[in-house]
Formats: sequence, structure tokens, C-alpha cells
Amino acid sequence: MRKTLVVGNWKMHGSRPANAELLAGVLAARPFLADVAVCVPFVYLTETAATLAGSDIRWGAQDVSAHMQGAYTGEVSAPMLAEFGCRYVLVGHSERRAYHAESDELVAAKAQAALGKGVTPIVCVGETLAEREAGQTEAVVKRQLSAVIHTLAHCAAEMVVAYEPVWAIGTGRTASPEQAQAVHAVLRAQLQAATGRGDAMRILYGGSVKPDNAATLFAQPDIDGGLIGGAALKAADFVAICRAQAA
Ligand code: 13P
Repeated sequence: MRKTLVVGNWKMHGSRPANAELLAGVLAARPFLADVAVCVPFVYLTETAATLAGSDIRWGAQDVSAHMQGAYTGEVSAPMLAEFGCRYVLVGHSERRAYHAESDELVAAKAQAALGKGVTPIVCVGETLAEREAGQTEAVVKRQLSAVIHTLAHCAAEMVVAYEPVWAIGTGRTASPEQAQAVHAVLRAQLQAATGRGDAMRILYGGSVKPDNAATLFAQPDIDGGLIGGAALKAADFVAICRAQAA
């Protein structure tokens, strides 16, 4: 039985007072049946770690360098994240693929760097609207995941996967539970074939998940939780999603 995982991706949102209010709201709503985590901007990691210390709410970053150290101005390494207890890191989010030209190979190298330091990569995959309309959804997500599987090799079962159709992110246009489930089933079969442990791996759905659609999405057999953007910025909404358990 896979335990539901709900991860808030704050993206480039937040301020110290807003973060304090949001995290206080999440902490006050415990306990959750699901595993819960927040992925915050780098500058807020230390404060978030301190605020969440002693709780079972996990925290993580939104990106990591593929390099361990060196002259890479502006980057943050996996050893730095690991140094003070970072649990998760998003890699390959479509916004990074699109705005920072991240290739499948770079995403795979980032996942490997994270895993090597004990930070679980949440590997994001997803097709654009044009790719979906061209009937390429399956091929695109399989290609994106395959690069990471290939690089992580025997450790591939340690990652978390997030399916985030690009056309559903921040648009209010959610993939239907059936559309999402169909892609999750493809990804799980790929993970199972590659690792033999696909049945135990968590595959999250992301893209306009809200309190009113989370339960239906999470009830799909291969959807094991969510990666939440906009709705993760309001404690009441995020808490409601964290409580949306598979029926
Ligand atoms: P929204 O929930 O705002 O659509 O964002 C999804 C996302 O990109 C999470 O990583």
C-alpha cells in the first residue's frame, strides 16, 4: 500500500510573514494521514526547517545543481541541501525545463546528485498542449522518465515521480482523473519494468489540484498524491488537499 504524499511547491512566492502564517496553519492542522511536505525557495529553507523541526511535515527545495561544488555562480548543491536535513528536491519542473532550457540529461544528472546525498528527487514529467494534441503524451513522458531511470540505474526506485501536464499548470484546467490515471499507469509500468519496484513507488499528479478535485484525483489507482502549486499557498486549501484521501 502506497502512502499518499502531498507536496506544496511554493514556486517563487512567499515572504517571511506569509510563510510563518502558512506553516503555522499547516502545523496546526496535524495530524495528517498523508505524508506532507513543502518545497520552498532556497532563501527560506533554513527558516522553514527551523519552523518545522520536531514535526512530521517534511521540507525540500525546488531545484539543485548537478555539480557537487565549484565555480557555478547562483547554484545550490546537493551536499548543501543535505547538510541541514533537506528531504526532497524537485527536479525537471516544466517551468525549469521551459525557462532554463533544462534537458532530460540535465534533469537526470540533478536527480542523481540529489539521490547521492540522500535527498529524494521528485522528478517532474509532463507534455505540453501541442504534444498532447499531436498524440505524443506517452512518448514524451516516457522519454523524460527514461533519461532519469537510465542515470539512476539501480537507485531509480528511490525517486518520487510527478506527472504534471504543462497545459494544466496554473491554468485552472485540470487533467480529468481518467486522463491523469492513464498517464500514471504508463509511468508505473515503465518504473516496474525498469526497477521491479514500480508498485511501491509514488507517482504524484500536479496541475490545478484544488480542494474540490483532489479526492477524485487521489482516488485513481495509480495516483499517489499531489504536487500542488497555487493551492499550496493558502493554509486552508493546502490542508484540505492534504486531507483528501483516496476513497
Ligand atoms: P498549480 O497547482 O498552480 O497548477 O501548479 C502545479 C505545479 O506546477 C506544481 O509543481
